[in-house]
Amino acid sequence: MIEIYKNPSYSSKERTMDLLNRMTIEEKIGQMCQVDGRIDSKTWIFEKHIGSFLHVTGEEVIRLQKLAAETRLGIPILFGIDAIHGHAFHSGATVFPSQLAMASSWNTELLEEVARITAVEVIQTGMHWTFSPVICIGRDMRWGRVDETFGEDPYLIGVLAGAMIKGYQGKNLSDPYSILACAKHFAGYGETQGGRDSAEADVSERKLRSIFFPPFKEAVKAGCTTFMAGYNAIDGIPCSANGWLLTEVLKKEWGFEGFVVSDWNNVGWLHTTQKVAATLEEACHMAVTAGNDMIMSTPEFFEKTVALVKEGLLAESLIDDACSRILELKFKLGLFDDKRLPNFTESNSLIGCDNHKKAAYETALQSMVLLKNDNEILPLSDKVKKIALIGPNCDDVQSQLGDWSFGTREFPERPTLDYHSEYDVTPIVTVLEGMKKRGGNDVEILYEKGCGLFDDEGETINKAIECAEEADVIIAVVGDTNTLNGETRDRVSLDFTGYQLHLLKALKKTGKPLVVVLINGKPLTVPWIKENADAILEAWNPGMEGGNAVASILFGDYNPCGKLTISFPRHVGQQPVFYNKLPGWHGDSYVEMTDEPLFSFGFGLSYASYQYSNMKIVSSKLVMTDELVVTVDVENIGKYDGVEIVQLYVNDVYSSVTTPLKELKSFKRVHLKAGEAKSVEIKIPVTSLNLVNRHNQTVVEPGTFEVMVGGSSRDGDLLKATIEVMDK
Ligand code: NOJ
Repeated sequence: MIEIYKNPSYSSKERTMDLLNRMTIEEKIGQMCQVDGRIDSKTWIFEKHIGSFLHVTGEEVIRLQKLAAETRLGIPILFGIDAIHGHAFHSGATVFPSQLAMASSWNTELLEEVARITAVEVIQTGMHWTFSPVICIGRDMRWGRVDETFGEDPYLIGVLAGAMIKGYQGKNLSDPYSILACAKHFAGYGETQGGRDSAEADVSERKLRSIFFPPFKEAVKAGCTTFMAGYNAIDGIPCSANGWLLTEVLKKEWGFEGFVVSDWNNVGWLHTTQKVAATLEEACHMAVTAGNDMIMSTPEFFEKTVALVKEGLLAESLIDDACSRILELKFKLGLFDDKRLPNFTESNSLIGCDNHKKAAYETALQSMVLLKNDNEILPLSDKVKKIALIGPNCDDVQSQLGDWSFGTREFPERPTLDYHSEYDVTPIVTVLEGMKKRGGNDVEILYEKGCGLFDDEGETINKAIECAEEADVIIAVVGDTNTLNGETRDRVSLDFTGYQLHLLKALKKTGKPLVVVLINGKPLTVPWIKENADAILEAWNPGMEGGNAVASILFGDYNPCGKLTISFPRHVGQQPVFYNKLPGWHGDSYVEMTDEPLFSFGFGLSYASYQYSNMKIVSSKLVMTDELVVTVDVENIGKYDGVEIVQLYVNDVYSSVTTPLKELKSFKRVHLKAGEAKSVEIKIPVTSLNLVNRHNQTVVEPGTFEVMVGGSSRDGDLLKATIEVMDK
């Protein structure tokens, strides 16, 4: 019999069918398994026909892939990793700012490039699949994983995720530098109660379809090849056991042709933790029937599922469907024809190369958000000759790189691969290094840590004060670190930890100008600095080039242009607080304070200032097939060239269901030289003015809509006009 599956002149579908017909039930179920490649890999390859390993790289990948080639059918292994802001587990690779940071750039081209570079570096280490982008909505800052999101807005998340998917997957999967992307965690995972990771997220179908599904649907449209199911339960049903979610909606309604992977041991959890399955067999049965195609890190899945099929308790057709989805992507990636083994000569010249570092620098620049700048204290004037650089995050590599970089994901049950000690930190430029380099011989940098992020180093505050008293300006670099962010790291407080606030207050007392640089995974409750600092720069987890980028912005080599994609609460008790809320509340504030965020979605200052005027709607009576066309004049009335992010929001004035006060529908990044004015045109299809009605149908309801355009989501920053939408 000719071996069609070995012949590249046949289509991926034909090759998949041919191969599937040759496979035993064990071989098919083996393809559905993914385990940590650091555990017992030989048994998995030769006895359990493993489909995928995660979290192994480099030389080990070559060894395992070569072993797989010796098996009966020689099916290549798919290697996956969490390369979510660069290939950051790999020593020497380019580490970009965190996803939340990058989102503040609102720059799709930039994010596509970041993902492309990540793909190129991932490929160099023999891997083919990244568990990125995270498409969860970040609305509750107590949740540990907010740093992994693009923020709070479904439209913006969809657009940015689409860009990253394109970057990872390239034009074609057969391009040797393309890897699989993974839209995760499907769905509602960021909306769990109390910010408790993986707990229940009680969102109705209408809410799913209005808020949580749209960005995932965009991921399907962008061609995303894999989806990861969330750990959380919705209305009592864990996502991994939810056939409506994974099969009816994702695969049938949206036509998703790739495969679904369950999250780490979520299938085991169905039995041990979420307790919807009385036995592990039942959990495996449930997972396959619901539509999970690959099972991550539930090693027992192999034996249990083989037994289920052999006993006639699970239909083999379900296994065939899952297995063929996986095989087809292996064919599309070209793995049967070229194993894409790492080429170390090429990788040495590509991983972390100067061009990639330049992109990390550019991304860091565009990710930073200027939150306050009183009396134009920034950029630093030429008169500044001595800077007191103070704070626990001035010189902290881990805080700067953020989560999912070295040393941050060592689960106790896994054999320790000590990324920390193997990781080369020399290419990482901290703020201290960046400032010293930029200051050169002209500006003296006096550094004192002042205090740690936690409780033990408060006594060094006095040294910091002495240092501040000698300087012309204080730059305080404070925030949080990786142990306060990430999976299993949910918080009840969003205040500064340790002596940081104490340090800032003491610095303020010196009377010297106080500039605060925040290095933190997610928004913190920082009302004191809003009141008391002269300037605030939100730098997030800015990645390996973060120190250079902070210095460039502070010294005025670069004009900051980032805007928040997430609201800063004033107080943890306001959680969740987000801009696209529904109207309706008895009263309009809490007893103790307003419900307004400290800093709003879409907000961000610049060294320039932009004036909006002359908003026009080209035609204000529209039918469903029309486009809404809005123009507005934007003028840079400042002294610096800059980039303004012009935002368009819409409110459906009266509708059959309560709809948000405003929703972002489009935006444009506009370059404006000092003194320059431009007429900016934004077009959106009338169909995007939709809502999900009480029958869960997505429709546009005729009537009046308020259209708003401006530089942030705050009412005071928006020009407004109305339009009428008619049936015909
Ligand atoms: C669990 C996390 O929820 C998921 O995002 C990640 O991709 C997997 N572990 C693999 O590390």
